[in-house]
Amino acid sequence: MRSPILGYLDTVIEETAHISAGDVAGYIPELAAADPDRVAIALCTVNGTVYSSGDVDHRFSIQSMSKPFAYALAIEDHGLGAVLDNVGVEPSGEAFNELSLDPETGKPRNPMINAGAIATHALLKSDEESSVERMLKLFSQLTGRQIDIEEAVAASELGAGDRNLGLAHLLRAAGALAQEPGPAVEGYIRQCAASVTVRDLALMAATLANAGVQPETGEQVLRRQTTRQVLSVMASCGMYDAAGDWLSTVGIPAKSGVAGGIIGVLPGQIGVVVFSPRLDPHGNSARGIEMMKRLSEDLGLHLM
Ligand code: DON
Repeated sequence: MRSPILGYLDTVIEETAHISAGDVAGYIPELAAADPDRVAIALCTVNGTVYSSGDVDHRFSIQSMSKPFAYALAIEDHGLGAVLDNVGVEPSGEAFNELSLDPETGKPRNPMINAGAIATHALLKSDEESSVERMLKLFSQLTGRQIDIEEAVAASELGAGDRNLGLAHLLRAAGALAQEPGPAVEGYIRQCAASVTVRDLALMAATLANAGVQPETGEQVLRRQTTRQVLSVMASCGMYDAAGDWLSTVGIPAKSGVAGGIIGVLPGQIGVVVFSPRLDPHGNSARGIEMMKRLSEDLGLHLM
């Protein structure tokens, strides 16, 4: 018999099917060609039980949902203090790709916007392995399977990367970029092109919910203190200039990606993932937000 929770997830998908607001990301040609009607949900408890519904095997690029994990790796590499010296933790109140730095500090305002994520990627150690290989290794530990790059997406975004390159030059001029702009942006874009399913993301979110312990393998992948910092910044900055609305309505730390995914984390309990490619004007999945609101309401996920 199909479990009642799977039937419930099917219902959330059916009852949000009328939501067709928004458009697929237009500025990355490969994402502009995505099927806008794909939809999926996955939940993973801190015990490692995964429930999923919809296009559960569909692979899409992780995009900005990679940012919390790159931030985590930078903290593990250098310690929180050193990372805070380079990237702030305040909401920007601006679009995710805004060409701006904090005028007082000259640093990017937080690691969830592109400026902060490029600076964060540039901090990652790359001795025997490149920063991108290290990110893929982390994703693989978090998901329990080998995660690779969707090369067509990476090539497509690299070919349309002027805005991120502009940001990287701005950072470098302000003394806030640890690498040359070209390699920093290439590494960041490849990190964003990692190919995942909602199930993969549910395990990644559940690891953050579980204080850094991957719930299936029991491995301590990230330190507890690191996940605390990551979740705090996701709560205040993860949904960009819609973060306040998100925190008051859905009420959990979250991060969106421009391919249409959103991960949410209820500490100590569950990782929640939705996927639908049409985006609202903030670059967050429009139907995804509605599905998350439903899940939060029905399952009592709101922290407050
Ligand atoms: O740098 C970019 O523009 C993309 N690789 C990621 C942006 C993104 O996912 C915005 N989030 N919703």
